[in-house]
Amino acid sequence: MDSPYQAAADVHVLPANLALPGVGVLPINAYVITAEEPVLVDTGLGVDADDFVDALSAIVDPGRLRWIWLTHDDADHTGNIERVMELAPRARLVTHGYAALRMSTWWPLPMDRVHAIRFGDDLDVGDRTLTAVAPPLFDNPMSTGLLDRSTGDLFSVDAFGAIIPEPTQSASDVPPEALAGGMLGWATSDSPWVHLTEPAAFGQVLDRVRQIQPRRIFSSHLPAADGTALEDFLAVLQQVPSAEHFVPPNSDEFAQMVTALTEMQRAGVPVPRTEAAPQPASPAEAAPRG
Ligand SMILES: [Fe+2]
Ligand SMILES: [Fe+2]
Repeated sequence: MDSPYQAAADVHVLPANLALPGVGVLPINAYVITAEEPVLVDTGLGVDADDFVDALSAIVDPGRLRWIWLTHDDADHTGNIERVMELAPRARLVTHGYAALRMSTWWPLPMDRVHAIRFGDDLDVGDRTLTAVAPPLFDNPMSTGLLDRSTGDLFSVDAFGAIIPEPTQSASDVPPEALAGGMLGWATSDSPWVHLTEPAAFGQVLDRVRQIQPRRIFSSHLPAADGTALEDFLAVLQQVPSAEHFVPPNSDEFAQMVTALTEMQRAGVPVPRTEAAPQPASPAEAAPRG
């Protein structure tokens, strides 16, 4: 994983970046909200286990965590769920009830610690209220975002994610054209069902986010973004229904990616740099789902 950073007075980012040779990187973020009752949003990557726990512990003693908000039960969000639950005995697991049921098929999830939520539910975390909201794009029907009512911060799950040229701590650091292409590529690969929607109907879904007017946007797959970027982001997402469909790599293309990854690991390069990466025809070409 990468170095944690503080994106707001009360929001810390625990970032990782998945290298996609020839395409860029996919940010994968967990968050800590330092509310009166501290909240961890998602649990990082399993391959980062020790680093993730160390980074989390540097922000908040896991023993003080009161809530673990799991946005959905995809592997890039649940990587350290079991370990964190053990380290945080006072924390309740806030998630979609069916996500909890599904996770119980692969680890002994303590059901008595689950606080099931659905869209519109409020969670009191001491000094503020978090409201469960539906992300406009998702790759898993359990996906449940949250709006911090005290700050206007929106945690948008996989929505507003983007494949970007290189890791950064602010979406505003990414050149606008690269960000728009990377967001479109991610959206078509992660939420291919959007092609089935009528653009006008999908526009109504985007309008619901517009009405929230988030102060900041914390996607699981984008560096921290200011709410002033929302209209640009919505303009990109409005293109998704009629955008070119994502085509995953074939066997030869995937083998090339693996070779490039192996070479990067051998050279000790954790993620690709823009200037070293061959330019893709489309960011959608090698985008994974998560
Ligand atoms: Fe994800
Ligand atoms: Fe996902």
